[in-house]
Amino acid sequence: MKSTAFLPLALFVLGLASSTVTANDDLENIWAVLIAGSNGWYNYRHQSDVAHAYHLLLKHGVQADRIITFMYDDIANNPQNPYPGKIFNHPNGSDVYAGVKIDYRGENVNSETFLNVLKANATGNAGKGTGRVLGSTRKEHVFVYYSDHGGTDILGMPEGLLSKKDLDGALAYMYEKDLYDKLLFYLEACESGSMFDGLRNDKRIYAITAALYNESSWATFCENPLDLPCLGDEFSVNWIQDSEINDILKESVGHQVDDVVTSTKKSHVCQFGDNTIREEPVADYQGKAEVTKPTPDANSIVAFRAEVLDTAVDSRQVPLIMAERALRKLNASPSQIATRMHNYVSKRADLTDFVSDIVHAVIPRRPLARTVMLKKPARITALDCHDAVIKAFDRDCAPFDRNPYAFALSSVFANLCEVVRDPTPILDQFAVKCVAGPKFTDVL
Ligand SMILES: *[C@@H]1O[C@H](CO)[C@@H](O)[C@H](O)[C@H]1NC(C)=O
Ligand SMILES: *[C@@H]1O[C@H](CO)[C@@H](O)[C@H](O)[C@H]1NC(C)=O
Ligand SMILES: *[C@@H]1O[C@H](CO)[C@@H](O)[C@H](O)[C@H]1NC(C)=O
Repeated sequence: MKSTAFLPLALFVLGLASSTVTANDDLENIWAVLIAGSNGWYNYRHQSDVAHAYHLLLKHGVQADRIITFMYDDIANNPQNPYPGKIFNHPNGSDVYAGVKIDYRGENVNSETFLNVLKANATGNAGKGTGRVLGSTRKEHVFVYYSDHGGTDILGMPEGLLSKKDLDGALAYMYEKDLYDKLLFYLEACESGSMFDGLRNDKRIYAITAALYNESSWATFCENPLDLPCLGDEFSVNWIQDSEINDILKESVGHQVDDVVTSTKKSHVCQFGDNTIREEPVADYQGKAEVTKPTPDANSIVAFRAEVLDTAVDSRQVPLIMAERALRKLNASPSQIATRMHNYVSKRADLTDFVSDIVHAVIPRRPLARTVMLKKPARITALDCHDAVIKAFDRDCAPFDRNPYAFALSSVFANLCEVVRDPTPILDQFAVKCVAGPKFTDVL
């Protein structure tokens, strides 16, 4: 899948592009959709990544009125922010919040508004945020960047979730209605490789995910002298840095992707769909303005990469690490810290047990039930069942947005659906076990 290098190895390793491609002059405009699908101080990094990406596109000439931004917007002015009004995506970086025009904030960041933006459904978003939706045509490129939590065939939203089925539906609609010439999608999330499984290569969509279908993506700059939560995510800061240091009018998408595959060490960056897009310049998706950049300094690139790796944390462990850090700051004793951490871990275990009980009730055969609990599915075919089940689980049992650990259990429902096909017996279990309303509403 990965094409071999276009470039001499030394440049390749440092992520410096040499001249290989030319920008497409027939391309009328570039549209972009940027979304951070979380909220909460501990999720600082998703909005930070997105704000940084906004400035990157703007600097490269994508027009502000063709960028549609989703950010819950509870970080810059969070009471916990020691730098009021500012957001940083790198320990030595500048504020990335100033100047970001947010179209959808707060409760308007949800699956419905996001899908309406993609589908150019202005009626659907009337009265929500700025109400802006994609206005792209068959002559324009669309760049989508999404940073958030995820699991098997699911992405997070500050409220609710985005399912693979719904995203597939929106992308299919966009193709049918000629809402783009080509579309490049960068996705940062745990198990994000699951979201584009089966994406056909004849839809003019090329999707890059931070991780395989069965692994976490990683947060980074988690230890930082600013004393802030993790500032960014590994895949995200790597692609953004790649665009910042290269002449993207000359660097191909394929080169950028290969570079990010190499620089992202904690997870396996994956590629799906139409790989002819690899031959095009990054500029055709991220902005075609001439930007004068200093000749990249190899030492600073090496230092950046080292810092990204040294401070990386498995995304799913971030809440635990932050809780521990907060306790240390309060001078909690080692035993107090151990107790609190044990509490966290046992709440996670309770959620896993809760799901396990449902699985065993639906599938009496123990060995099969065990496989359903443990296996990360490479491919799921019962998409409708899974879609119905995760939405019901979110609504009635354990809201994913309150409880990022629950994303890790989306795979269990995917496996369960592969076995039973029909969601009814699973939904029946929810009706019994969640009759008193959602449980597990602490951040785990
Ligand atoms: C930040 O800047 C300081 C001082 O210039 C330098 O020592 C440090 O390595 C830099 N950190 C990162 C992550 O670039
Ligand atoms: C657009 O939004 C409206 C109002 O929410 C909805 O009824 C309609 O189905 C949506 N159209 C598409 C194509 O999603
Ligand atoms: C994830 O999937 C890949 C490819 O199928 C496999 O090689 C790898 O061992 C899996 N990783 C885990 C942790 O199961």
